[in-house]
Amino acid sequence: MSEIQFEIDGNQVKAAKGMTLLEAARGEGIYIPTLCHHEKLEPFGGCRLCIVEVQVRGWTKLVVSCVYPVEENIIVRTRSEKVDRIRKTIIELLMAHAPDAPELMTLAQEYGANKDRYDKDPSFCIHCGLCVRYCNEVTKKNAIGFVDRGINKEISFIPQIAAKECNDCKECFELCPTSYLQAAFVLTQALSFPPSSKSGKGE
Ligand code: SF4
Ligand code: FES
Repeated sequence: MSEIQFEIDGNQVKAAKGMTLLEAARGEGIYIPTLCHHEKLEPFGGCRLCIVEVQVRGWTKLVVSCVYPVEENIIVRTRSEKVDRIRKTIIELLMAHAPDAPELMTLAQEYGANKDRYDKDPSFCIHCGLCVRYCNEVTKKNAIGFVDRGINKEISFIPQIAAKECNDCKECFELCPTSYLQAAFVLTQALSFPPSSKSGKGE
């Protein structure tokens, strides 16, 4: 496999062709924050938190590192005034939905984000899609999906599948950055297949 040589945060590094900037950075022990990325899942590019600055032939642009492939001789900066400012705004916007999510609180501290900057709309889900994609791509059970679109989009368990599959799985629970997933499951369970009912009876 051919190797690509480039610079990241002042270090000359090599990465296999086809790798993303995020993968290459992680391989070098360089931290880039992510909210919608998971190594077992196809790149998604949804949260935009992993943006970095890339300089190509003297031109600087912002790219989403979890989907952007490594390129020969580029110069990558994982932190800059611009990058930090954008990450701060993204965190503040997400905190309007999930102000007390520990992962967001840690990020807010790192980037000086103000969780009260935007009006609260505590939907708690930040639409990272990790649960839906993991259930679809890894466990292949398809027990969770997104319903509706735009600002009304929300995740929903499919009761008929969840009743059969979720109790013995729950692999996605720990991926949720806000704990909304667990709450949604408990609600679905209470409404559609109470724990006392075995194998989905009680729907
Ligand atoms: S429920 Fe959690 S894991 Fe699923 S999309 Fe929302 S924030 Fe992400
Ligand atoms: S981690 Fe790259 S866009 Fe979410």
